Amino acid sequence: MSAAVPEWIPLLVPDMPSPEELLPYLQRMHAAHQYSNFGPLVLELEAAFARRFALPQSQLTTVANATLGLELVLQALGLPPGARVLIPAFTFVATATAVVRAGAIPVLADVDAHSWLLTPAIARDACQRTRIDAVLPVAAFGMPHDMAAWQQFEQGSGLPVVIDAAAAYGSQWLQGTGGTLVFSLHTTKSLPAGEGGLVVSTRPGLAERVRQLSNFGINLNPAASVPPGALASVGSNAKMSEYHAAIGLVSLSKWECGAQARQALEADLIQILNAASGARLRWQTPACDAPLMAPTTLCARLPDAATRNALEAACAQARLMTRRWYQPLLSQMQALPGDTVRLPTPCAEDLAQTLLGLPFFAGMAQGQRERVRAVVEAVF
Ligand SMILES: Cc1ncc(COP(=O)(O)O)c(C=O)c1O
Repeated sequence: MSAAVPEWIPLLVPDMPSPEELLPYLQRMHAAHQYSNFGPLVLELEAAFARRFALPQSQLTTVANATLGLELVLQALGLPPGARVLIPAFTFVATATAVVRAGAIPVLADVDAHSWLLTPAIARDACQRTRIDAVLPVAAFGMPHDMAAWQQFEQGSGLPVVIDAAAAYGSQWLQGTGGTLVFSLHTTKSLPAGEGGLVVSTRPGLAERVRQLSNFGINLNPAASVPPGALASVGSNAKMSEYHAAIGLVSLSKWECGAQARQALEADLIQILNAASGARLRWQTPACDAPLMAPTTLCARLPDAATRNALEAACAQARLMTRRWYQPLLSQMQALPGDTVRLPTPCAEDLAQTLLGLPFFAGMAQGQRERVRAVVEAVF
């Protein structure tokens, strides 16, 4: 008789509220007969975010997802047609698609070798090389940016900075200063609402403009120059529904507990994998004092491409799912427009050769952790 084939260990498993937890919110929604269009649950979620960010509610708005949030923020900034937006070459494709769909040109930059982030120093260097009209750094894998450093950059350069903080809910804060942040509430992110996004901005009027653009661009303000109901600008439909707000509210009510469990899981896996590899794995390091509060992925950096490829093959053999996160680099994406500017990206290219995402999800069993450990040990 052949030995039992072990089950595949998934790369990630969404940590979503149960139907029972959602029911009270869905009942409230149904009783109110409001299912979208800034209903009571969306307003309650926005009020909860405003308390957490210690901002007036007018300085944030929910959106249908982070991709549309980024697009509308870029539109609301009023950048000239063909504006050049600096983004890291090492990011999820949505960062670039948002730039292109907002009518701007992506300028692809390198990332720091340790934090894997596009830093103010990299942005300053890019500004020396070519014209830049705005900067869109990414909180890669949720790692927060140093907001004081970006505020200094904004003031010094006069260029608007928007942080694509898609994976960084709970990690990326304004840190006592100002800025513009766009979060994803996708099911795989640290505050899952199924689909959803949050735009936070201390830039005067920006969040209000994004809110209007997310509702087609329709004016709802009786004091504005166009009448209520008329189009103030050409927007889109990027509103968060009440269904998604219900999921977001439940997720928010238990966020701290989930975040602690993810931190503990990350610390445990890093420790056992460091031991299994003879300390030859490297990990993303914080860019500032702000820690990563709710990791959603585990991304190991191997010593070289051959070892990465060997670990990837060994994981597949042992039925562990892996992912080459953020690869290929944006600079390799043929579908981006021909006017995309590609700056030198040696660190991003090295990361693309050596990174591998390993299984990481809430409730990962000891037996599953042991299988990951054993594969890493065998490869080293
Ligand atoms: C860096 C980054 N930006 C943007 C997005 C898009 O977020 P959403 O799925 O909410 O549109 C993601 C999603 O994974 C992401 O990782």
